Amino acid sequence: MKVLELYSGIGGMHYALQESGVAARVVAAVDINPVANDVYRHNFPEVALMNRNIQSVTAQELNKLDIDVILMSPPCQPFTRTGLRKDTLDNRTCSLQHILNLIPELRDLKYILLENVRGFETSRMRRELVDCIESCGYTYRELILSPCQFGVPNSRTRYYLLAKRNNLKFRFAQPSLGDEDSPPPESLDSLPKSRHSVLAEKRGKINPRSGRLCYTLASILERVEDPRYLLPPEVLQKRSQVLDIRTSESSGSCCFTKGYGHYVEGTGSVYCPFTDETVLLRYNEVGRETDSDEKTRILADLKLRFFSPKEVCRLMCFPEDFQFPEHITDRQRYRLLGNSINVHVVGRLIHLLCTES
Ligand SMILES: C[S@@+](CC[C@H](N)C(=O)[O-])C[C@H]1O[C@@H](n2cnc3c(N)ncnc32)[C@H](O)[C@@H]1O
Repeated sequence: MKVLELYSGIGGMHYALQESGVAARVVAAVDINPVANDVYRHNFPEVALMNRNIQSVTAQELNKLDIDVILMSPPCQPFTRTGLRKDTLDNRTCSLQHILNLIPELRDLKYILLENVRGFETSRMRRELVDCIESCGYTYRELILSPCQFGVPNSRTRYYLLAKRNNLKFRFAQPSLGDEDSPPPESLDSLPKSRHSVLAEKRGKINPRSGRLCYTLASILERVEDPRYLLPPEVLQKRSQVLDIRTSESSGSCCFTKGYGHYVEGTGSVYCPFTDETVLLRYNEVGRETDSDEKTRILADLKLRFFSPKEVCRLMCFPEDFQFPEHITDRQRYRLLGNSINVHVVGRLIHLLCTES
């Protein structure tokens, strides 16, 4: 099958397709961000990558490529629950609206997978998408899932829509979409075990968010000696109470967003090379201390640091051979990863979408 990867970024969907085991190849990818495209090209030089606005793509062009599958993760800012939620009034939805105009004209298209943030499920955009695909003869399933339901020690709750032509049957019924992550469909659990679930069973601990076994962060850590990853003293001084601190024993971490490495609040967890107990003891000491310089010194002893880009890649389940070109700065790496997807979760979903039994 031939796959079109829209909003391709650094190629998370491409890696997910590879992981899914589905016999398909990406024949074209489209993204407007030249930095993301440098990374994509570095890892997938063989793919026809278009550095273009999706709004300029025509049905005629796509029909020449005989596209069977569309994989896409459109910009999420119009739908994030902490944002303005301008939804279809936000210009960043224009390209998705353009895709809805293309879908009825795509002759060979059979499968669609869309990823977005939680909040998309109640948007007007989602209504337009569902109306469009239903009228074009597709059935669909919607899921809200997080990697910590798959043995991976990271939270990244996302909305997924899987659609296929009416003559192709889904392997699972529509689960209820509660406010919390919906339980993964049983058919996901019945897929062959992945390296993540095997590791979670072997070396896992219960993840408090999902209630499932996840492997501990010890499995994704690299040796980081570069002091540039250490939290700066001003952050320790002003932000120590909002940090989400994890150790090698933790079976979870927060969602990494594009501001990670630059801001600490709500952008992802930070790492401490000591035990959970030591962190607690030190924080108790800080609580008793009145001198602010002394507080900062005690916190500095904890050697808190950002997870390195490589470690974030691992938490997002990118394969080990994924690489950033050297000229991409750390800030750009975090930004690109924060915009990307969890490769393992999407890989499983592609498998479910494109197999009938
Ligand atoms: C949520 S990110 C998707 C990231 C991607 N799946 C990955 O693995 O890195 C959205 C991407 O859409 C791109 N984008 C946004 N609007 C676009 C448009 N109108 N045309 C082409 N690309 C667009 C952005 O540059 C960004 O890379």
